Amino acid sequence: MVEESFTVMDNIKLCEGVYKMTLMPSSGYAQSIKCGQFMAVEVPCRQDSLLKRPFAIYNYDEEKRQISFCYKVVGKGTEHLSRVEKGQALRGAYPLGNGFKIDEGQKRVILVGGGVGIFPLYSVFKAYPDKVFYSVMGFKERCDVILTKEFEERSSELILCTEDGSMGEAGFVTEALRRNIERIMPDLMLCCGPRPMLKALKDVMRNYPHIPVQVSIEERMACGIGACLVCACAVRKNGKVVNKRVCRDGPVFSLYEVEL
Ligand SMILES: Cc1cc2nc3c(=O)[nH]c(=O)nc-3n(C[C@H](O)[C@H](O)[C@H](O)COP(=O)(O)OP(=O)(O)OC[C@H]3O[C@@H](n4cnc5c(N)ncnc54)[C@H](O)[C@@H]3O)c2cc1C
Ligand code: FES
Repeated sequence: MVEESFTVMDNIKLCEGVYKMTLMPSSGYAQSIKCGQFMAVEVPCRQDSLLKRPFAIYNYDEEKRQISFCYKVVGKGTEHLSRVEKGQALRGAYPLGNGFKIDEGQKRVILVGGGVGIFPLYSVFKAYPDKVFYSVMGFKERCDVILTKEFEERSSELILCTEDGSMGEAGFVTEALRRNIERIMPDLMLCCGPRPMLKALKDVMRNYPHIPVQVSIEERMACGIGACLVCACAVRKNGKVVNKRVCRDGPVFSLYEVEL
């Protein structure tokens, strides 16, 4: 992990309240990044907190030395970020956390993302170009739908759903998954989304315990490097519940082990 200054290459609006920011490390050297890792970015207005905000690394290009993340404006920190302009400097730390891992024998991989939970999933396409990907993406309504072209281009199939039925299949992403999982029968599932979605996913996957599921978890963070325990989450290992740090031991855990 390194902490350094970045130059903002762009900060573009994807839809109302959601942006993609691309950064270039000022040191001129990009660290090697694993898919599913995250970065912690300092908010430009320091009165609104000294704490860096964690964001999944959406894409990275070691040759161009560029890293991008996508974010939804939910509070003061992300509000400040949305006003950052091209050419400005920001401090940040990366790469953080463990990331997703796909084994040699796992060929058919299903990605399940809810809302802004789709962001960490995108980086697996680049890391594992030889796998066959199926993407199931869910949003609240049509105006929230983003990045479908990017996922469609890299997936053998994209199943899109909106809660209100204004685009794609109607209903929750977990229901679309329930309808399609037997047909796709993946070797592995990677997912990210809000807690209620992950709980519903646990329920769907009760019938398919042989399919491993890696889930990227979000928790409030402070230090981001494993020192303060603010980000603790309970994980069940061999019948015992132990506390793990989302920033250091995660953010990716087995869905079957993490207590939601
Ligand atoms: C490992 C990790 C990866 C993440 N990746 C992304 C991403 O790719 N894109 C994205 O938009 N967001 C992501 N988040 C959530 C993001 O960090 C928060 O939305 C952001 O820190 C909010 O900052 P703020 O100052 O705008 O909001 P605040 O004013 O601090 O809080 C506003 C609201 O956001 C909630 N919130 C704050 N921090 C978190 C958090 N860490 N996790 C969940 N909810 C939070 C608060 O409970 C509150 O409801 C990620 C979080 C983690 C832990
Ligand atoms: S944020 Fe401090 S230990 Fe995870």
